Amino acid sequence: MKIPNDKGYYGEFGGKFIPETLSACLEELEIAYAKAKKNKNFVNDVNFYLKEYAGRPTLLYSAKNLSKVLGLNIYLKREDLLHTGAHKINNALGQVFLAKFMGKKRIIAETGAGQHGVAVATVSSLLGFKCDIYMGAEDVKRQSMNVFRMKILGANVIPVVTGAKTLKDACNEAFRDWVTNVRDSYYLLGSVVGPHPYPMMVRDFQAVIGKESRTQILKKEKKLPDYLVACVGGGSNAMGLFHFFFNDTRVKFIGVEAAGFGLNSLNSASLSIGKPGVFQGANSYILQDKYGQIKNAHSIAPGLDYPGVGPEHSFYKKIKRAQYVSVNDKQAVAGFNLLSKTEGIIPALESAHAIGYLKELAKKQKNSLVVVCLSGRGDKDLDIVRNYNGIKL
Ligand SMILES: Cc1ncc(COP(=O)(O)O)c(C=O)c1O
Repeated sequence: MKIPNDKGYYGEFGGKFIPETLSACLEELEIAYAKAKKNKNFVNDVNFYLKEYAGRPTLLYSAKNLSKVLGLNIYLKREDLLHTGAHKINNALGQVFLAKFMGKKRIIAETGAGQHGVAVATVSSLLGFKCDIYMGAEDVKRQSMNVFRMKILGANVIPVVTGAKTLKDACNEAFRDWVTNVRDSYYLLGSVVGPHPYPMMVRDFQAVIGKESRTQILKKEKKLPDYLVACVGGGSNAMGLFHFFFNDTRVKFIGVEAAGFGLNSLNSASLSIGKPGVFQGANSYILQDKYGQIKNAHSIAPGLDYPGVGPEHSFYKKIKRAQYVSVNDKQAVAGFNLLSKTEGIIPALESAHAIGYLKELAKKQKNSLVVVCLSGRGDKDLDIVRNYNGIKL
């Protein structure tokens, strides 16, 4: 099965639901990406910089202390060790070389947690692009250190004050800018969301996570894992891990969404409580009210604060290839604390959702072999955790 099909559909999900003005931009992008993938210089450049600049391959670390505490055999895919501290650089590098291939002069991006923004600012300075990054005003406050990093790197950070002032609003502004300035500007989208070809391109650039993990786990354990676990915001680190294992049907995929603050709340869990609908250019599961209006998401992890999810995840849910669960803020902070204390690794709050879920998994599947995507490091989140009063450190 070829997913997506030529029109960008994953079953009924995906597609291109866009205003007329965007269709030429997306067509240009699709054609350029198809050409670039076959271009030796493009492929060599991306691979070279992934290795020599970003630090691939990342380690697959056997977390023995955490495994002992939880009664599982846990390996961490250490995307947190990459340059800039998260998996976002994989995609940023791929797309910035595509922008160069297309002869563009300026990069536009959106960011939530600021990790994608930092990755984009980094690769833009590396290749000498002018760079404008849209960020919800709420996230500008929550992630001030990342805003500062982007500015140091030479990017212009534009606070967005519309809507909930978070990631979806930043995406809307970035799309608006792109439509107006498409001739010289490249929109570097940060997750497996948006209209075709973005979900496919971002997945392809992140699939290196699963490709490496598969080889590494076979070498270390002489077998494939029972479970792959990753947090899901838009879904790029999870899809990056899952994609290469798609045909290994006995490897189960678990995507962990954010349930937000309340014990029974599911504030950012698009796949758990959302319904299919069109949002930011694609048909996928989204958080919506009974009139189809987009609901605001909430999570302690800014990178999970998004009311939509990539269409390929919606497809995996539909065909039951993956299971999607949710973890609330308190469980995520407990995961953050547990990994820090047992392994000396401070995870990003997004990744801490995946760690937070392991306790539940251990209750059902003791001693399973689990690969967890540790999508990022926690330095950016120290203030949030310091101000969180639900946990004793
Ligand atoms: C460290 C980290 N992990 C995960 C995510 C969520 O994004 P995605 O679901 O696209 O991997 C983010 C988003 O900013 C992030 O910074």
